[in-house]
Parts: sequence; C-alpha cells; structure tokens
Amino acid sequence: MIKKYINPIFPHLLHGGDYNPDQWQDRPDILAEDMRLMRLANCNAMSVGIFAWAALEPKEGRFDFTFLDKAIDDIYKAGGRVVLATPSGARPAWLSMKYPEVLRTNADGSRNTHGMRHNHCYTSPIYRKKVFEINRRIAERYKDHPALLVWHISNEYGGRCYCENCKAAFRNWLKEKYGTLDALNKDWWTAFWAHTYTDWSQIDPPMDHGERYTNGLDLDWRRFVTYQTTDFMKEEIRAVKEITPNVPVTTNMMGFYNGLDYRVLARELDVIANDIYPKWRGTKEDIDTAIDTAFTHDLCRTMRHQPFMLMECTPSHVNWHEYNKLKRPGAHELSALQTIAHGGDTVQYFQFRKSRGAGEQFHGAVVDHEGSENTRVFKEVAALGARMKQLDAVVGTKTVARVAILHDWSNQWALDAAQGFQNKNKRLRATQLQFYKAFWQRGINVDVICPEDDLTAYDLVIAPMLYSVSNAQGQKLAAYVAKGGTLVCTYGTAMVDETTLAHLGGWPGAGLRKVFGIWNEELDTLYPDDFNTVTGDIGEYKTIDYCELIHAEGAEVLATYESDFYAGRPAATVNTYGKGKAYYIAFRDTGDFTDAMMEDLIHELGITSDFDGELPHGVTAHSRTDGESVFVFLQNFNSHAVTVPTAKQWATAEGGISVSGTIPLKPYETVILKKQNIF
Ligand code: GLA
Ligand code: ZN
Repeated sequence: MIKKYINPIFPHLLHGGDYNPDQWQDRPDILAEDMRLMRLANCNAMSVGIFAWAALEPKEGRFDFTFLDKAIDDIYKAGGRVVLATPSGARPAWLSMKYPEVLRTNADGSRNTHGMRHNHCYTSPIYRKKVFEINRRIAERYKDHPALLVWHISNEYGGRCYCENCKAAFRNWLKEKYGTLDALNKDWWTAFWAHTYTDWSQIDPPMDHGERYTNGLDLDWRRFVTYQTTDFMKEEIRAVKEITPNVPVTTNMMGFYNGLDYRVLARELDVIANDIYPKWRGTKEDIDTAIDTAFTHDLCRTMRHQPFMLMECTPSHVNWHEYNKLKRPGAHELSALQTIAHGGDTVQYFQFRKSRGAGEQFHGAVVDHEGSENTRVFKEVAALGARMKQLDAVVGTKTVARVAILHDWSNQWALDAAQGFQNKNKRLRATQLQFYKAFWQRGINVDVICPEDDLTAYDLVIAPMLYSVSNAQGQKLAAYVAKGGTLVCTYGTAMVDETTLAHLGGWPGAGLRKVFGIWNEELDTLYPDDFNTVTGDIGEYKTIDYCELIHAEGAEVLATYESDFYAGRPAATVNTYGKGKAYYIAFRDTGDFTDAMMEDLIHELGITSDFDGELPHGVTAHSRTDGESVFVFLQNFNSHAVTVPTAKQWATAEGGISVSGTIPLKPYETVILKKQNIF
C-alpha cells in the first residue's frame, strides 16, 4: 500500500500552529524566544503570513518581506518547516479605500466599510488582480526556500456578496447552465405566483426582502457561490502553482460549514485542511462531542481519501463559544490523537503565541501572555509533540472503511429551502450522527461520501434524509444495490430532483420506488409532545418528529406502527433488489431503534472493528493501516478510568511493549496498538 504524504520531503506528523511575527516586529527579543519555545514545545511546522498583507505591502506596490524572510529562516534554523499562507483573508486599508469594489455588498444593497476580515467580493476583478500579484510575489520570493512545505491558500473562505458584479456573474452562470430562460423557468417552477422571468436581468439572488420561495433559485445561488469562491481560489492557486508546481496547496475548511460545497473546492486542492473547535467540557457530553468531531474528521479524510491536515484547533479554549471552558488536563492530547486516529496527519493550533491586543487576545494559544514554557497548556502541548514524534510509522497510512454515510451539500440546501415538515430545523445532521454513533461505539471505521463517489467500495451505504435525488443518482443507488450492496434510507427520501421539483409518480422517486419495494404516500410531522410506537421482531420503539405512511409493494415489513389512524401500517421495511438489499426506515426514533438496526446489519454483513474487545461506553477504537500493520487508536473519552478486554496480542505503537488480556485506560487516555502482518 503506497503511503500518501502531505509533502514527501517531510514524512512526519506536523505539529505547530498559526504564528504571527508580523505582530511583534518591534520585539526581536520575543521573536527569538519564540524559536526557543517552538523547539521546547516539540513543534515542527508554523503557519505564517495568514493575515500579513498590511505588513508585506504597506503601500500599494511597495513590498517589504523583511519580517517574513527572518521568520522563515529562523523557523528553519530551529528545525521547523513552514505552512505559508496567501494573505487574502484580510485586506490592507489602502486597498479598500482606493478600490471600494473589493468591499462586500450585503443583501440589502449596503456596502461594507473597511474592517474585519473574510468579507471581500470574490468577483471583483481588482481584488482578484491584487491577490494574484501579492501571491505571485510571495511565491517568487520563497520558491526555493527549503522550509516551504505547504501553501495555505487564504483563510476560511466563506460568505456571499450581492454587488452588481456578483449578480452579473450569477446571471452568466445561469445562462451557461440553462441556455434559455424557458428552461430555467420550468426547472424553477416560476409560473407559481407569476414569478416567470422574461429577461435575465430580472433575476436577483434570493434575499429576505426579495425572492425567498423559489427553491430552485435558492439552490442555484448557493451552487453559484461555491462556484465563484472556487474560481477565486483557483486564481490564487494558479499564482503560486505556476512558480512552485511541487508544493502542495490547501485551504482551511470549517467542517460541515453550510455556505460552500467543500467537495467542489476539494477537487482543486492537493490536501484537505480543517479548522475545528469542539466544546470539550469534561462532562458526559464529551461523548457526543467526540462522535460529532469524529464524523467531521471522517468527512475531511474521505473528501480526498487521504490523510488531511488539522490546520487549526485550540490547545486550551477559544474566545467565541458562549462559555469558553478550558480543556481539562489530558483532553487536548485525547482530541489531538483522535484527529490522527481518523486519518489526520497534523495537529496545528490557532495559535502559537497569543496576540497582545485586539479581538483574539484571550483566545487559547501554546504560549500565553506570561511568556514561558511553565504553563499547564504549554507542558501538555510539548508532551503531545513528544508523543507525535514517535508516530512516524503512522504518517501517510490509510483508513479502510466498509461503511459509508452520505452527506451531500446540495441535499442539505434543498432540505433547508423546502417549506414544510419541521420548518425550523429538519435536523439532518443529528440524523446522520444518530447512525454514525452506532459505528463509533463499536469502533468501526466509516467514510462520509456523496452520491457521486464510488459506492462499490462499501458493503453498507446509509443515506439519511436523502431528500433531493437526481435520476442519475437514483440509477447509481439502484445499481449499487442490484450488484449486492446494502442501502439504508429514511423518511424523506427522493422527494425532489436536483432542481427541487417534486418527483412525480410516487415517492421515493428517481426510480427508487422499485428498489425499496415501497410507496411513501404521506409524511406526518409530529408536534414535540406527540409520539407513536413501532414494533417488530427487532423490539418496540418510540417514534418522534416524522412518521411516513408507506405501503409495502413487495418489501418485507420489519416493523409496524402501533397507534393513530395508521396503526398496523409498515414503519420499516427491507427489499431484495438484484443481489442486494434496500432498507427503508419510515420514522425518526430517539436513537435506540437506529442502534439496534445497525447492530443487526453489522452482524449480518460481518463488519468488524480492527479492535476485537468489547468497548465500554465512551471508549472507541479507530484504525489506520499501511497494508502490513494496523494501528488501532484505543481512546477513552470518559473522565474516569476504564479497562478494555482483548483476546489478541498487541504491541504498543510507541515503544513496542506487548499488550494482551485487559488494557487499562486512564481518564482521557489513548493507547495506540499495533498488529503486524495482518494481511
Ligand atoms: C478561525 C480563524 C482563525 C481564528 C480562529 C479562532 O478558525 O481561521 O484566524 O480566528 O478561528 O478560533
Ligand atoms: Zn461582489
């Protein structure tokens, strides 16, 4: 199995963080101290230049690289490497003043004044030109520097602009997509409320004080925002790639951020990077936080099926949660190693040294205002770094998953736009997590895929609330089942197509009615204090939120409703289609039905964890492999100690100590186990 390194010139786990020497140019003593502290913290990678545009180009066309030259040289001399950013995440004031078109326009037509960050117009030709120029200069300057490891393109792309340039670009994008207004009017169903467009110029983005109920417009606008942001990013990438073709590029994403379809951005990147700030509390809620965080890591790994970067996390606390609680002792190591367990090859922080002033002065960092290596946080970071140094064998290894859960941004957007069901929050993410939890608790690896991915690699594909399904996607799902796959879908499946038009001829549409052998006639949305009960061989369970009234048309009924006017009607079914099986769950449960059903499927399909022992509550085991050895990260997310049984003989990945019988885990402890010659 070929290992996939972030950059093969440095085949180690990266440990480090955002580092802002531009803020400390009048304190050479502190900058020198930073290098000593970097080494002591066992850090080997610093992310520099992220918000440094004003320092690098203090006046238009006047460049000054002095501070960055020194920082990169010093980091290299201290044994580190550099993740080098393009500075487009924040503009210098002169740029906003001279070229106001770079400032973002809000939906109400008001234009921002200069300030904050992440608020540029991605269409503005001037902004694109200026960003290209500064990127190009940075690339020219450091192209041969041995410290340069990865390009960090911009910072957390996001948001949308409603200026005339953006609106014109949106209309052009629509023209490309639809060709004629007639086609657009049909797909958006604009005859409704006399919204038919007779000229392209009449089309505006959806806005609170304008159009809100044309679902197709809503979906296309979001797709356009992704397209335009990606187009901007591609220009940024071109500026550096033409100079340094061998240096990998990434941009830092924000997990399941709903504003962009990250899979579209992912195609342009060499490696995925993510920023994540889970609310670790030191309470039993940490188990849910761990599950949610693991699901996000799995998305990041699956987007390119290779190790990803954790570009930002905090070693202690943030400054923007409602309650900025400290990570309890040990929780940082646990959460960092969780990233590696799920396929991450870096643990990087926001930030290395705290900014002395402004908005993030009280955000956690490796080095506090006190300035020494004697803080609790620094010591924990240094200990983690020492551990990470022992893990070279894990770098570049693969995660093998036989189970996939589907998350598709377009589907999420279509659900968001839909008027009906539970309007406030249809809870797609919670539903996905309910399924994911069943596998997390049993230490089973899961990929997070979209309908366009190769499904044949999986024995089990779960597609919760896959509301928007195109005919092509429907055919693909059908072919997957026909060839022997097992597919699980839920209430709300294939109600609309990719333009949000309802599928005609009975749900699930897109050809899936025959795959599931059911017809979903109606969907009942329950009030919060309503419930029904379902029973079957699998047991008796409570339903909440949604109950669909389905008919079995060839499917075997696994459970039926107990009460209300649909008592006795099917609530869960399975259909044999070709060589595979398609399960349909017509109701939402509180979690225990999902768990019981997944347990049955895991047994039936012979899906196993790479760890053999029974995992106590709050303990999990995720694995990576190089094709010869498997590395199992046994992790205790409880604030109490546990013991875990195993019948196998393991070695620890660090130190090679042999382990068998029972494995004791302290609160928040991770033991990394290794087994050789597994294939
Ligand atoms: C984001 C940004 C960082 C910093 C952190 C604070 O992830 O990218 O610049 O503001 O949040 O948590
Ligand atoms: Zn704009």
